[in-house]
Amino acid sequence: MKFPKKTVDDLSDLKGKKALVRVDFNVPLDDDGQVGDTTRLEAAVPTISRLLEAGAIPVLMSHLGRPGGKVVEEYRLAPVAAPLAELLDCEVRTADDTVGESARQMVSELETGQVGLLENLRFQSGEKDNDSEFASQLAEFGDLFVSDAFGTAHRAHASMTGVPEHLRPAVGGYLLKSEFEKLTEARDNPERPFVALLGGAKISDKLPVIEHFLEKADVVLVGGAMAYTFAVARGGEVGASMVEPDFIDEARRILENRDNYRGELVLPVDNVVMNTDSEELETRVTKTDEIADGWEGMDIGPRTLEMFLTRMRVAKMVFWNGPFGAFDYAPEFAQGTVKIAEELAGLDARVIVGGGDSASAVKNAGFADDFYHVSTGGGASLELVRGEELPGIEILDDLE
Ligand code: 3PG
Repeated sequence: MKFPKKTVDDLSDLKGKKALVRVDFNVPLDDDGQVGDTTRLEAAVPTISRLLEAGAIPVLMSHLGRPGGKVVEEYRLAPVAAPLAELLDCEVRTADDTVGESARQMVSELETGQVGLLENLRFQSGEKDNDSEFASQLAEFGDLFVSDAFGTAHRAHASMTGVPEHLRPAVGGYLLKSEFEKLTEARDNPERPFVALLGGAKISDKLPVIEHFLEKADVVLVGGAMAYTFAVARGGEVGASMVEPDFIDEARRILENRDNYRGELVLPVDNVVMNTDSEELETRVTKTDEIADGWEGMDIGPRTLEMFLTRMRVAKMVFWNGPFGAFDYAPEFAQGTVKIAEELAGLDARVIVGGGDSASAVKNAGFADDFYHVSTGGGASLELVRGEELPGIEILDDLE
């Protein structure tokens, strides 16, 4: 679906104007407090560069982590400045606070060719509360508003939906547009056969997504820890594997209803399991419904992998969200996720990877460039493909 909102390309006379830009720089930091993955910074570069080229002065704002409305030193945005300056090839100036004296001074001193970066929005409780006063203080920093924070577009926070109440024009950036257009292809107009691969740990987050894809896709392959709740729902023994007891009934309802969905539900039949009583890493392969006490399912097994690969090979479009095992716990449990990523990378199909862990997995495995689209948004991409409206997009100026 074409992006229904105005974008930076619809703006004119930008020379000398301050462009307040909401970006999603919620990036992983390594043990030294440095940016561990620059994907989200790289993704914001085209919009910021376009503003710079047009003579505008970008004032960037983002959250990092969940500091809970107060200053938490480890969540300062300062580590973002150096890698961003390198990517943009310009000076990036930072402030010690979000809307206080330091921010005001930094913004007032910014010159053409420089970029400003406010301190973490979530150091202020007004951000998550969508406080109008906080939003209006932010809005004072710009002559116009640009949102390119796709990863946060599902949050109705002050910097996403509050600021445009005080500041127009309010338009989308290139990342927001491209994410919207690619992801809505999987939502509205998937080429068929359309296969959904859904992994991840928490069935509580994913049940509506599984059900959505059972109604839309031709095949739905479910792996990751959430498959153990399905195993319990059909009477299996899963040992020490992660199960969400409150969702067993819901999983059972889906299993009982499985013949009524458009898509075929395919669940794991075997798993790589780990002995939780052993100091050493001890693993073996077990049938999914027969995991012994003290053993925990950590990855899909070889028969499941074969079964999943066979189903994927017929696809013309694929949507993938969530890893199939504890890929970051030990390399022994990354096999399912890596082999699936490898197969998807070589597939003659439009493959869309939802953000979050699956995007990191394809990036770490070196396949990110082989896909039709790798989203920068975790929760936002899932909400969009499920047909939810994203408040951070809805609020922007409509195309005439
Ligand atoms: C994300 O990483 O998914 C986004 O930055 C949103 O973060 P949040 O889930 O803490 O709101």
